[in-house]
Amino acid sequence: DNKKMRTENHLRHVESMATMPSGACNISHLNAVILGDALATEENDLIFPSHDFSSQAHVPSTDKYLEMYKRSIEDPAGFWSDIASQFHWRQKWGDQVYFENLDVSKGPIKIEWFKGGITNISYNCLDRNVEAGLGNNVALYWEGNEPGFDATLTYTQLLHSVCQLANYLKDIGVGKGDAVVVYLPMLMELPITMLACARIAAVHSVVFAGFSAESLAQRIIDCKPKVVITCNAVKRGSKVINLKDIVDAALVESAQSGFSVEACLTYENQSAMTRENTKWKEGRDIWWQDVIPKYPTNCAVEWVDAEDPLFLLYTSGSTGKPKGVLHTTGGYMVYTATTFKYAFDYKPSDVYWCTADCGWITGHSYVTYGPLLNGASVIIYEGAPNYPNPGRCWDIVDKYKVTIFYTAPTLVRSLMRDGDEYVTRYTRKSLRVLGSVGEPINPSAWRWFFNIVGESRCPISDTWWQTETGGFMITPLPGAWPQKPGSATFPFFGVQPVIVDEKGVEIEGECSGYLCVKSSWPGAFRTLYGDHERYETTYFKPFTGYYFSGDGCSRDKDGYHWLTGRVDDVINVSGHRIGTAEVESALVSHPQCAEAAVVGVEHEVKGQGIYAFVTLVQGVPYSEELRKSLMLTVRNQIGAFAAPDKIHWAPGLPKTRSGKIMRRILRKIASRQLDELGDTSTLSDPNVVDQLIALADC
Ligand code: WT7
Repeated sequence: DNKKMRTENHLRHVESMATMPSGACNISHLNAVILGDALATEENDLIFPSHDFSSQAHVPSTDKYLEMYKRSIEDPAGFWSDIASQFHWRQKWGDQVYFENLDVSKGPIKIEWFKGGITNISYNCLDRNVEAGLGNNVALYWEGNEPGFDATLTYTQLLHSVCQLANYLKDIGVGKGDAVVVYLPMLMELPITMLACARIAAVHSVVFAGFSAESLAQRIIDCKPKVVITCNAVKRGSKVINLKDIVDAALVESAQSGFSVEACLTYENQSAMTRENTKWKEGRDIWWQDVIPKYPTNCAVEWVDAEDPLFLLYTSGSTGKPKGVLHTTGGYMVYTATTFKYAFDYKPSDVYWCTADCGWITGHSYVTYGPLLNGASVIIYEGAPNYPNPGRCWDIVDKYKVTIFYTAPTLVRSLMRDGDEYVTRYTRKSLRVLGSVGEPINPSAWRWFFNIVGESRCPISDTWWQTETGGFMITPLPGAWPQKPGSATFPFFGVQPVIVDEKGVEIEGECSGYLCVKSSWPGAFRTLYGDHERYETTYFKPFTGYYFSGDGCSRDKDGYHWLTGRVDDVINVSGHRIGTAEVESALVSHPQCAEAAVVGVEHEVKGQGIYAFVTLVQGVPYSEELRKSLMLTVRNQIGAFAAPDKIHWAPGLPKTRSGKIMRRILRKIASRQLDELGDTSTLSDPNVVDQLIALADC
């Protein structure tokens, strides 16, 4: 049948790309570098794993990868059941390991994995590991913003802390399926809260503690939590951020629109602010330290179906309203654990540090769940990566003997700018595997990360994935594949990526187009909270029969994948996704702003910067003060990370006669490619382009 044929095609394709590194085919155009042997310096480096590395790796060769990959595609049910069986299930799943319909023409989109299986992810992260004898191993190393402030929790201690909070939550009436909004910085209480919710089958919705009160309120109103969990303040770098004030404002706003939160559990983060200085609402606010330690350290698990919801995480799309991405339990558990193990070649002797915040998907899948499911020791860093100086990361690496270091290209580029001496001052000799995520890593940043940070000894796992995918989709497996700087290489087990043209036709061989996936994988999101229609429209309608990622991708003649960035109205700033429409709607809420159009523009450190064209209300003059006030509006409505890098005054915006803004032209003006503006004759007023150019540097 059709599905079988598609699968066979795909395998043929993967096999043909795989003949390159394993066989003696033509790689003479590439500069072969063996891990640990030499630096990567050439345009077309191909970096081979060393024999030492490969022989100890989970996947020691391309052939082994291929064998496993082939099975995962030909027999997904068998492949994933074998892996899933390594976890604890109260009851095994039914006969059908998975069900999928990714084709809108055949009915509603539906994905299910391990349906009927009864489990609990918190149990699998904690109790299972304690029972296996890891109780005294460190689960979390916490490193505070200020050097010298640190703490640890073993698996047993973490289990106890999670149970205490879980008991409290049950006590105040939080039960299965209830939402809990979490607005916490990188304290150990953040993963503790996630695991406590999972333990009692409550659905956590973590909001990155850099979002504004308005954004927090929007998320609270959408998912109506029984309780909000936060802390009074946090220090990031030399700044103290009063989180409780932000939460208070969000709760006022939410109450005004008709939803009142009954309880606000607040952790006292003494190093940032004392109780006395924290604003308080009696009857609603509760200090964490006053109640949680009184609860018993054991708490029975609420067993759930594999398809019961685990968490909601809001992410940006191409319209103004953030999307509540919903992940369920069983498939997500199996997928995050497995991708973590293979993509980082995780071994029990590793110490793992991912610099992402738990407020984003990376922190969900690869700070909390994936690593803890593997019994790993994980570092949680509270502070800014360059505080008190740009050597802090390597100071932490040496202090904890970090072996796997996972970060974002934006941080790599910013540390690269600060100079090698901050790196070479530390030994970094524990490092074994490096990782990158969030946006394409440009080859020069890749090489610096590889040569300077990893001393050409550590493979780099450039993991392509999304909030929606739950876990890695295209990623190198260290030890298995030779690497090309800047390429995310090949698909993970069970993932069938395809590149399609505008008509949705798969293109083979060397090509570029839209990146889609043609079958489900266990970690896939199941819906957008409360809006299954938007789920179908955004992801499954653009190309019938496929999941559409929103990314562009090319494949080179050796079969390597190269991600080329978003093809929709989403900008990726320092690895954070921001919808242009969100920024625009924040700008136009300013009383003096008549209209705004936002585009992404290349940025040396952040990858992309936010470039806003702003038309003011008639008669309002341009001023620096107004520029600042517009910036502040965006900060207040979304968060500091969404503030435009540039505000370009626009007497008018280039529009077609039907009134559609021609963003293509704005992008060219923003990047100063003025000789590439293309056809402007269809504009209703072609003069606006000249006016915009004239104001470019004002
Ligand atoms: C978007 C997803 C997945 C965790 C972090 C961001 C871009 C992510 C890579 C990579 C090229 C990447 C894509 C994707 N992206 N990782 N290794 N190479 N691009 O999650 O906020 O859901 O954003 O980030 O454009 O669509 P997210």
